[in-house]
Amino acid sequence: MQNCDLTVKIGKMIFKNPVIVSSGTFGFGEEFEDFFDLNQLGAIISKGISLSPMKGNPPPRIFETEGGIINSIGLQNPGFQEFIKNKLPYYKNLKTHLIINFFGNTQKEYIELARRFDSVSGISGLEMNISCPNIKKGGIVFGTDPQMAYRLVREVRKATKLTLIVKLSPNVTDIALMAKSAEDGGADAVSLVNTFRAMAVNIHTRKPELGNIIGGLSGPAIKPIALRMVWEVSQAVKIPIIGIGGIMNVEDAIEFILVGASAIQIGTANLVNPRTGIEVIQGINKYLVRNKIDSIQKFIGTFG
Ligand SMILES: Cc1cc2nc3c(=O)[nH]c(=O)nc-3n(C[C@H](O)[C@H](O)[C@H](O)COP(=O)(O)O)c2cc1C
Repeated sequence: MQNCDLTVKIGKMIFKNPVIVSSGTFGFGEEFEDFFDLNQLGAIISKGISLSPMKGNPPPRIFETEGGIINSIGLQNPGFQEFIKNKLPYYKNLKTHLIINFFGNTQKEYIELARRFDSVSGISGLEMNISCPNIKKGGIVFGTDPQMAYRLVREVRKATKLTLIVKLSPNVTDIALMAKSAEDGGADAVSLVNTFRAMAVNIHTRKPELGNIIGGLSGPAIKPIALRMVWEVSQAVKIPIIGIGGIMNVEDAIEFILVGASAIQIGTANLVNPRTGIEVIQGINKYLVRNKIDSIQKFIGTFG
């Protein structure tokens, strides 16, 4: 099979293809190495890392719905130090880009983490999750207030030379405005979307299906909304967009690339078919060959 040029550039990073595995859905990588050669991925994104370890929310933490899952993991993670000591060495042996997903409870924590990761070798870029409540501001999520998001990105930008991707929350009225705030603050790229706030009720026990009551919906159910958001953002910013949301196969990935995503992330699909990443890479190549397009660069955003 003929090979097309699948390379894409996001900030300072050049990916061999636009397929990335999303934060929180690929463990710390190791769990997936029996299914395919992880070096073939464009990039791997780590689970969200905070300064201190976090235990997450009470169980049950995952509930399957029609067309998706609702999770309330609650950003459980080992914290910065433990991650560097016990998880990073595995990633360092891989020949693909490692992007660290991180978050803080305050602006100070975000800046501190960006500064710390900046001096660690083996990391290609940072994906900043701004869907976290700002405790000092009474729990307002950074990612739902354009001014707060702008200021946060601006300050984090000063703390790192690594490629900075800002991951947007879909739980807003105007996602294009949020993307513009991230761009104005100095982000190299935006990734969207994170999960949609959701819940499920058990009519027999009359209790919530999740220990935390509310969780985040992901999977095929969110794809049409995520696609619309990527399209809107592509009209509003000049920086690259990474599309996420219910991408289960190559057709879904191509839809996102057509509406303007330079790269895409596979999330929930990893839990259904752990080989989705490699199948999507091969499928994109096949699609481009069939359509006589020799480079993905020429294909991005060609919708309409
Ligand atoms: C179990 C689970 C854990 C997740 N953990 C994180 C996380 O730590 N940080 C983050 O930014 N997004 C996290 N996400 C969100 C995904 O990376 C992705 O943005 C979202 O699931 C939408 O994509 P999908 O429909 O392809 O899954 C998580 C999603 C799931 C299902």
